[in-house]
Amino acid sequence: MIQRSSKLIAGNGQNVLERSLLKFRNVLNFAPFNPGERFRMIVRPKVRGFICTTAHSAGCAQNIKDQIEYVRRHGPINGPKRVLVIGASTGYGLASRIVSAFGSGASTIGVFFEKPAEGERTATAGWYNSAAFEVEARKAGLYSKSFNGDAFSDQIKAQVVQAIRKDLGQVDMVIYSLAAPRRVHPKTGERFKGVVKPLGKAFKNRALDLETFEIIDVTTEPGTEEERKQTVAVMGGEDWEMWIETLKKEGVLADKSLTLAYSYLGPDITFPIYRQGTLGAAKDHLEATAHKLDETLRPKGGRAFVSVQKALVTQASAAIPLMALYMVILLKVMRQKGVDEHCIQQIHRLYQDRLFSGREIPVDEKGRIRLDDLELRNDVQAEVKQSWEAITTENFKDYADISAYQNDFLRLFGFEVPGIDYEKDVEVDVPIP
Ligand code: NAI
Repeated sequence: MIQRSSKLIAGNGQNVLERSLLKFRNVLNFAPFNPGERFRMIVRPKVRGFICTTAHSAGCAQNIKDQIEYVRRHGPINGPKRVLVIGASTGYGLASRIVSAFGSGASTIGVFFEKPAEGERTATAGWYNSAAFEVEARKAGLYSKSFNGDAFSDQIKAQVVQAIRKDLGQVDMVIYSLAAPRRVHPKTGERFKGVVKPLGKAFKNRALDLETFEIIDVTTEPGTEEERKQTVAVMGGEDWEMWIETLKKEGVLADKSLTLAYSYLGPDITFPIYRQGTLGAAKDHLEATAHKLDETLRPKGGRAFVSVQKALVTQASAAIPLMALYMVILLKVMRQKGVDEHCIQQIHRLYQDRLFSGREIPVDEKGRIRLDDLELRNDVQAEVKQSWEAITTENFKDYADISAYQNDFLRLFGFEVPGIDYEKDVEVDVPIP
């Protein structure tokens, strides 16, 4: 169960004096006396609304190992060998980096925006994930380099170009998997903020209160034209296009390269809040950008696609509270039918069955790759709809799998991972090598 107010607990691995000295040195920015001398403590989940403010380094590392193991078990994939992943530390981007590296033996460069540990404050999960990824990639003899910074900025783009030129020459695949709440435009300095709102008219529907597990009625007022524009500026395709144009201009994008961004469609019941709302407008822009990029890359044999993925519990999707009711119902239906997938299964299937199967890449009537086939299967959606209509606070458990949701949520932060002893001290200030 989620513990909502538990604190980080200093374990027995270090006494109070040692911890104070270490903390003091950290504050003054002194290097530790020796590399083994890092903060260790018991770390527990600390959940605030839809975010967990702590992360468990050993749990995150185990998550990475489990995903690598899944990919290895399913055999090699004949994919590109030099891959850039933008948004590489969690969710779909992380899974893309893992499948590229451990499925296709690719050298990878990952870009993300995460926080390292500071004193007793743990790093973010994406930081620990990336540290563990780097360790595993090196063990496997694979090149990997990580950039922690704002992917929207010209500065990070320039650093990545330099690294590609120096270490890889060029990249043959670019995955764009950012999910960000805000963006500062690199040319104008304008600040944009994304919102999740319907457009045109208010959306009145039932939703799940994740604090009390009650079904509540929620009315969300429509977003303004300004909010729509700002959400498109954050989550649309402008920055993706900027990345591709920069890589092309600098000569570090190989001919016949492939670029991909992820989108979501969903069923009718979530349309007003997602696909027909501000976020949907951003996805429309992302999909239009895919067509534009495809046209510019095709003359040299390159391709650009959007891939429509399944709804999954990730840090980005957990931040959309109105989606939670749909998610807990969907989880129950898909698990009962044995067709549920996590990020790694989704991306592995994308690579193996769609992108690198040796056949032409299958797309829908709008040119999109579809990995939401199981989520949108008629029998799955028919049951989801029935549950959606029948569910109340009283009969909640009959129609929703809240423990699966909680488990998926906590695992994002390295908690409830099988094989991890959460009563033991764990390293907190883990470096990304
Ligand atoms: P996530 O929250 O797990 O990952 C987001 C990534 O973006 C992280 O690596 C984060 O560090 C990075 N990031 C955020 N702001 C950044 C910045 N300014 N600079 C550099 N890196 C930054 O998100 P998730 O769910 O994997 O989403 C990725 C894409 O997949 C999004 O476009 C999302 O709309 C799409 N998608 C997600 C679905 C879901 O249910 N989770 C379903 C279908 C598509």
